[in-house]
Amino acid sequence: MAGKNTGRPPFWFMRQAGRVLPSYRLLKEKHSLWEMMSTPETGASVTLLPVDDLGVDAAILFSDILMVPYAMGMGFEFTENGPVFSSPLAGSTDPLARLNPDPSKLGFVYNIIDKVMAAKPESIPLIGFCGAPLTVMCYMIQGLGKKADFPEAVKFMYENRSLTLKIIESVTEVSIEYVKGQIKHGIDVFQLFDTHSGLLPVDLYNELFIPSIKKIGRVVRESNIPFIYFPKGLGVGIETVTPDMCDYLSIDWHIPIKKARKMVHPEIGLQGNLDPRLLYSSKEEIEVQLEKYIYFGKSNRNWIFNLGHGFIKDTPFENAKFMADWVREADWNR
Ligand code: CP3
Repeated sequence: MAGKNTGRPPFWFMRQAGRVLPSYRLLKEKHSLWEMMSTPETGASVTLLPVDDLGVDAAILFSDILMVPYAMGMGFEFTENGPVFSSPLAGSTDPLARLNPDPSKLGFVYNIIDKVMAAKPESIPLIGFCGAPLTVMCYMIQGLGKKADFPEAVKFMYENRSLTLKIIESVTEVSIEYVKGQIKHGIDVFQLFDTHSGLLPVDLYNELFIPSIKKIGRVVRESNIPFIYFPKGLGVGIETVTPDMCDYLSIDWHIPIKKARKMVHPEIGLQGNLDPRLLYSSKEEIEVQLEKYIYFGKSNRNWIFNLGHGFIKDTPFENAKFMADWVREADWNR
């Protein structure tokens, strides 16, 4: 993927291996999400579904960012309304004592990676991932994201600064073991998802969380694996991201991509950033918006086409397919 001139930008989509695909919906009738994420054969075949169904240039491991809290002894269930933790840390008198990190519990994920590596076409890189500490901790502290802005999790972080730092350290340690495990089993690229990075003021985010992002990124890049960092909602904070932190910065849908290119350090490649909700509109309107990327793509080679956040569950598949075909077949003038 990196730096190869194929005449067009490479592309894949966040949440591509999920509910947008009719083939996935069929499997989901027979298996629970947890079953699919823990059975090597099913996990590997779901990982590769979008390669066949959408023709994307990369596969992303079918798993979830909540595997790290699971390995830290936190029980949860995936429900229709999203993940629900049985006892979130905010309700505990001694949250640290509740945690029992055991990275060996992540072995089942590596079995899926082994299967994908054996089955995937050589030209398709496998993207491994985990959640960044802030995002993972929002779920650990508050449980289900009852409100998208996680008020209880943010309150906890302000009320319990030193405890928050200890939890960050512990989540970072497990995440690093997890990254190392994924690399050992052959992933080609790594993406760090910080879906909730916009919850805090940029200065506080940088002070509390950037040291961990750097530690995780270093482990990835020391293995010569490209590191993509997705700090959703970070806003002007993307100006503070430095090339020692990541190879690619994934831009959310809020910032025009041209503007992002001016804001982000020129040595950092970009990924993104079509609004996934655009896919609810007509093909004509989708095409109008896609065409706006042609000019950007002509002058910016260090760019991976993607969405500005993951596919939403009721996205019409035919519009997702229309977008994928369009990106593959458009004349990119290069
Ligand atoms: O991108 C992919 O296709 C790979 C698989 C993947 C999943 N989750 C599978 C999944 C990835 C990369 C994730 C990351 C993830 N999980 C994030 C970060 C990225 C983002 O989209 O913000 C977050 C915040 C989570 C936590 C999570 N998992 C939530 C909030 C939910 C429920 C909401 C929803 O979108 O359904 C999940 C469940 C989940 N994880 C599903 C899938 C395919 C949906 C389950 C289903 O099919 O019923």
